[in-house]
Amino acid sequence: MKVLVTGVSGQLGYDVAKELKRRGHKVLAPKRDSLDLLDQVGIIQYFEYNKFDAVIHCAAYTAVDKAQEEKELCSNVNVSATRVIAKQCASRDIPLLYVSTDYVFPGTGSEPYETGDRKGPLQEYGISKLAGEEMVKSLCKKYYIVRTSWVFGKNGRNFVRTVLRLADLKDRISVVDDQVGSPTYTKDLAPLLCDMIESDKYGVYHATNEGFCSFYEFACEIISQSGKSLEIKPTTTDKYNAPAKRPLNSRLSKKSLDDAGFSRLPDWHDALSRYLTELGIKENT
Ligand SMILES: NC(=O)c1ccc[n+]([C@@H]2O[C@H](COP(=O)([O-])OP(=O)(O)OC[C@H]3O[C@@H](n4cnc5c(N)ncnc54)[C@H](OP(=O)(O)O)[C@@H]3O)[C@@H](O)[C@H]2O)c1
Repeated sequence: MKVLVTGVSGQLGYDVAKELKRRGHKVLAPKRDSLDLLDQVGIIQYFEYNKFDAVIHCAAYTAVDKAQEEKELCSNVNVSATRVIAKQCASRDIPLLYVSTDYVFPGTGSEPYETGDRKGPLQEYGISKLAGEEMVKSLCKKYYIVRTSWVFGKNGRNFVRTVLRLADLKDRISVVDDQVGSPTYTKDLAPLLCDMIESDKYGVYHATNEGFCSFYEFACEIISQSGKSLEIKPTTTDKYNAPAKRPLNSRLSKKSLDDAGFSRLPDWHDALSRYLTELGIKENT
């Protein structure tokens, strides 16, 4: 199969392109200078000049706080470009896998969200990602929408890297203990996305590493596993005062994955351990 992967210079796109190649697929993975999502005519021309059998759309505007100010830019990337890509896929009758987020949900309660539960994004980023989902659903027949959360991978900035950097700079930090969800390693998620695109099991899925924790618990585990020293104090979201609101409950149910016969990802503690090994921070055990 020949697959177009967007966002190859980001965390997930990097591992998806790598995994597809490992499986023997041909991969087109243009960087921003060859496929700028802000250039709608350019996207159409890219589809006209290149032939492929499927698209895994990992690229997105992902700066959650900045999106509150850069609403239009965020929407142009996450909604308008997704609309153009979805239209192109639909007119060629090729499948589109759109990566989405836990931030489409309002984060109330403490039960894991099912894929069809009521949406209610709390910030511009989530609003744009949900609108991207709607574009895909309304324009394509052959689509996968995969919501993930708290992503970390080799190729990018993420919470794990931030905590490790702070451990080298500070003696103590405070981390919110009331946002609960699941960390997700791109090296674990990428093979699942490839399994999906190799199947014809279209639909809406949730995919994260197994297990739930708060960001405080996640930070403590990062420090514990890395062998670094940093005092971490629990705090609450309302004291943190970030520009964009975050959902307190980011738990995602995996029922749709189970129902379709896809394997769940490994536990997040194990994923973190392998990530720290990949970064060269932890010895291979
Ligand atoms: N990160 C998370 O915690 C998280 C959580 C839930 C869901 N997700 C979703 O998962 C997917 C992958 O996230 P990620 O963490 O891998 O993202 P990331 O590391 O921030 O990478 C985003 C990618 O999008 C590209 N991009 C942004 N604007 C572009 C434009 N105008 N033209 C072309 N490319 C553009 C970036 O290119 P440049 O390198 O050139 O900027 C980069 O390659 C996204 O759909 C995201 O919404 C992420």
